[in-house]
Amino acid sequence: MKILTAEFIRSCVQPEQFPSGGVPEIAFVGRSNVGKSSLINSLLQRRGLAKVSRTPGKTRAVNVFSVVTGDTQLSRFLVVDLPGYGYAKVSKSLRAQWGPLIEAYLSGREELKIVVLLVESRVPAAQDRETIEWLLSIGRRPIVVATKVDKLKPSERVAGLRRLRVELGLDDRLPVIAYSSTTGEGRDRLWVSLKEQTRI
Ligand code: GTP
Ligand code: MG
Repeated sequence: MKILTAEFIRSCVQPEQFPSGGVPEIAFVGRSNVGKSSLINSLLQRRGLAKVSRTPGKTRAVNVFSVVTGDTQLSRFLVVDLPGYGYAKVSKSLRAQWGPLIEAYLSGREELKIVVLLVESRVPAAQDRETIEWLLSIGRRPIVVATKVDKLKPSERVAGLRRLRVELGLDDRLPVIAYSSTTGEGRDRLWVSLKEQTRI
């Protein structure tokens, strides 16, 4: 995929701040520290576009990026980097502020065409399964991506990814894309999947 432009648009902490204009959106959801911002940078081949941090809970607002590609099928869209869920150390009041914002966005946003759900290859959480079930219940079929797959030893890879599917309760209709932002593995597969899901 040839990325012509990818730029930061704005950080939103309230629904009124979301861009208007009806451009299709692709949202990236997942636990804190799962690798959302890194995956966005890897996918768009822009180092440092989305802020990456070793400290979980770095992304605290909904960050929106505008992307133009050389592909006719998926030529112009917004990438939405959502704050990670399930980070206990973040204060209750902050969590109380995020939860409803993210839920309202995911369930009601008309421009939202695709939800990409990130889970960590080695350590899926109970919350990941709940998120998948909730997304399906509101009619959103996520693209599931297993992140940091470079951390799996070659010998544990097949069994590890199979266990992940079981723990997440996935059936064959929901494939899992193994991804590494470090090596770029999975990038092409994810683009194919994104293109399949939409005709933007
Ligand atoms: P929040 O914004 O806090 O929700 O985190 P995030 O999901 O955006 O995660 P982020 O991309 O900031 O990455 C968290 C940590 O994981 C950083 O230390 C990254 O360098 C590391 N990381 C992300 N992707 C990969 C990967 O593919 N492989 C490896 N080995 N490390 C990764
Ligand atoms: Mg982030």
